[in-house]
Amino acid sequence: MIKVINVVGARPNFMKVAPIVAVMKKRPDRFEPLVVHTGQHYDASMSDAFFTDLELPKPDIHLGVGSGTHAVQTAGIMERFEPVVVDQRPDWVLVVGDVNSTIACALVCVKLGIKVAHVEAGLRSRDRTMPEEINRLLTDQIADLLFTTSTDADRNLIAEGIPSERIRFVGNVMIDSLINNLERAKQSNIKSRLALTDGTYAVLTLHRPSNVDNKQTFERILDALESIANSLPIIFPVHPRTRKTIADLGLSERVQSMKNLRLIDPLGYLDFLSLYSTARLVLTDSGGLQEETTSLGIPCLTLRENTERPVTVELGTNVIVGTDTDKIITAAMAALNGSSSNRVTQVPLWDGHAAERILDELEQYTPRSH
Ligand code: UD1
Repeated sequence: MIKVINVVGARPNFMKVAPIVAVMKKRPDRFEPLVVHTGQHYDASMSDAFFTDLELPKPDIHLGVGSGTHAVQTAGIMERFEPVVVDQRPDWVLVVGDVNSTIACALVCVKLGIKVAHVEAGLRSRDRTMPEEINRLLTDQIADLLFTTSTDADRNLIAEGIPSERIRFVGNVMIDSLINNLERAKQSNIKSRLALTDGTYAVLTLHRPSNVDNKQTFERILDALESIANSLPIIFPVHPRTRKTIADLGLSERVQSMKNLRLIDPLGYLDFLSLYSTARLVLTDSGGLQEETTSLGIPCLTLRENTERPVTVELGTNVIVGTDTDKIITAAMAALNGSSSNRVTQVPLWDGHAAERILDELEQYTPRSH
């Protein structure tokens, strides 16, 4: 029996772990999965809603860490996770993505001699001012098995001196969740609640510190949104960090006065999937949404200077537009006029079966005597 602690902490982790745990439950003779929630995200709309929507089993252990500075949050997770690992002695700890919970739990394990698997390894923005880039670099250096979503990630890892025996190109578990839930999401009534018709609106998400913590940058983005909102309504589910900075930066009045920019609370997985899957355009600084829009062929403008997911630009619908007002407007108009080049090619191994391949690899890697 292979005992695996599956770590979740922040919103983008839940849809990556859900398909892995679901497939583990289908192999009960080989896998004993536990779910540990660090508590990095804790609001009902940022956490609980995803367990329900994704049918992810309630956490076996909740560390209840909550928010804090990077040091406080990372150290808090480590302190609370270490005794869990000592007590449970898992064969593997599986961490996903690039959030503080990912590096914190990986670091605890490597010091205890517990094997770590990193799902979504090898992505690089080459921008070390992003906290996520530091989390990715360090987690990949210390994990035993590195599961990648695209072959550029394999190349990044090799270039950093990681032996190829530790790398497995398995595809994208986030797309497993998307494919598994697309039909269920059609039952969501979010579009009727917002009085929206398919293909007539844009969806916006914004939460990166580099965009929302800096007034000038945020204002440049708002200038662009003001212009784009003349063409179609923009639906904006607001991350708690962003809601706070809108108030702190004195931007509340401006944002509220933009009639066609519709601020709503963060949405659960199925409501959000229902919303963006029939959008005319997505504007975002999220990593996952760049992949999800590529998988569905929805035009996506990434409001960042770089991406750690170049495959979404090369094979998909993603355009990196940065935060320059004119560039954002020009790209949005090109997308709305259909004049942008929206190549939609199936990305290799983004086929809904990545979780199965991960488990096959874990089985092969773990001796049968278990
Ligand atoms: C974290 C991840 C980021 C990911 C994002 C998705 C790191 C370094 N960052 O950023 O990679 O894209 O999650 O959401 O791990 N807050 C609440 N309720 C919550 C959670 C957060 O109000 O449930 C507020 C708090 O004011 C908190 C702030 O949001 O201080 C930031 O939360 P934090 O977990 O530090 O980072 P995110 O910006 O969410």
